[in-house]
Amino acid sequence: MSKEVNELIKQAAIKAKQETDDEPEPGLTSEIEWPVEVKIGRGLEGAIATTTKIGYVNGAKGWLVYQGYNCFDLAEKSNFEETCYLLLFGKLPTDKELRDFTEKLTEYRHIPEATLDVLQKVVTPETHPMSALATGVSILGNLDSTADDTSVEAETDVSIKLIAQLATLAGAIARIRHGKDPVDPDPELSHAGNFLSLMTGQKPDEVLERIMDVALILHADHGMNASTFTTMVVNSSLSDMYSSVVAGIGSLKGPLHGGANERVLYDLQEIGSADNVESWFKEVRETKRRVMGFGHRVYKAYDPRARILGPIAKLMTDRNPKFKRLYETAIKLEEVVTRELGAEKKIFPNVDFYSGTVYRAMGIEIAMFTPIFAVSRIAGWTARALEYLADNRLFRPRAVYTGPIKAEYVPIDKRS
Ligand SMILES: CC(C)(COP(=O)(O)OP(=O)(O)OC[C@H]1O[C@@H](n2cnc3c(N)ncnc32)[C@H](O)[C@@H]1OP(=O)(O)O)[C@@H](O)C(=O)NCCC(=O)NCCS
Repeated sequence: MSKEVNELIKQAAIKAKQETDDEPEPGLTSEIEWPVEVKIGRGLEGAIATTTKIGYVNGAKGWLVYQGYNCFDLAEKSNFEETCYLLLFGKLPTDKELRDFTEKLTEYRHIPEATLDVLQKVVTPETHPMSALATGVSILGNLDSTADDTSVEAETDVSIKLIAQLATLAGAIARIRHGKDPVDPDPELSHAGNFLSLMTGQKPDEVLERIMDVALILHADHGMNASTFTTMVVNSSLSDMYSSVVAGIGSLKGPLHGGANERVLYDLQEIGSADNVESWFKEVRETKRRVMGFGHRVYKAYDPRARILGPIAKLMTDRNPKFKRLYETAIKLEEVVTRELGAEKKIFPNVDFYSGTVYRAMGIEIAMFTPIFAVSRIAGWTARALEYLADNRLFRPRAVYTGPIKAEYVPIDKRS
């Protein structure tokens, strides 16, 4: 069955290759001389904040590359642990390096009891798991005596801790929200396997573990997205990695970013069936709403992650037919949105469109979708914050002031 997952990824890679061109975009993959002149749009569109070797997104051609390796190869051949090592240290590990790194993750996966105690006191069924995750990371920072050492070496160690511990926290939060006790990490399981078992309390089967692994690889890094940039901005003040990651979690929570995967599922449930898609879409357009899970600031082609997650959504809903209708609705929605907005506005499904259907068919509740994203993206957040820290300069853009300049102060009793 895991072979079947690999075959789907291979097929997605072939399709991507057929539809895209192999030439890199000129000028965007070489060293630059500072200061650099660029045209900047609202929302910092087009702004260049730094140079990086960590990852590359070619939005016109639909490429996603981590440290030179394309996401199709990594999804098919690597695992999340190795991908994290690659992002943090810039190369694929040797066998020994990977074993040492994996051992460290196993050791760090256990979180202090005090963290769980606080979460058990403050998390209710209504608490958004992303808010709980931010609280959890903040407590971990309070309890780590190395947190304020902002050397690259110390922050690298904290980054490995956070990669291990975010999954433990998210797993515990998934249980605490429903009044269940957290369970202990299992040293025999992979990171993906642990994450599933920490959420459900059960050892996952091979396919679920593999699919979670693929999902974690695919979400691990993605250019200067809002949450990565947020994390880097906070870290650039030489705050500490815990505070930086708390900020990243806050940013990822929003529906225009990581929170879109939850909204997609609510929309698909609201639509109900493929037959209702055309009328639902018409109403969305008339009321000028956005279709969640479509469009991207960078991709103006099909998102390569959605190319992989789409077929995996089919595989999972074939396995769990209770969610077949969800998949059929999603496929129809893709057809309609692409037909209506693809050519004109270059709007195609993004990573969030199929991930929710995959997770739902795996038996994961909707509220946990964005935390899964965080459990993966912690790799990119920390890798990029560390890369920047090595040659740090405080981020400090400007805003153009458009308000009055010489307003006269009027005492409160004279104001109308
Ligand atoms: C991701 C997103 C915020 C990027 O937005 P952006 O780069 O700022 O794009 P813009 O807001 O400039 O949109 C460009 C045009 O496409 C339209 N558009 C963009 N995304 C759209 C969507 N999901 N549904 C409908 N129309 C969309 C905009 O309305 C705008 O149309 P206009 O030119 O007629 O005004 C946006 O595509 C979006 O809101 N998508 C839905 C949320 C989502 O899936 N987020 C996860 C991203 S991985």
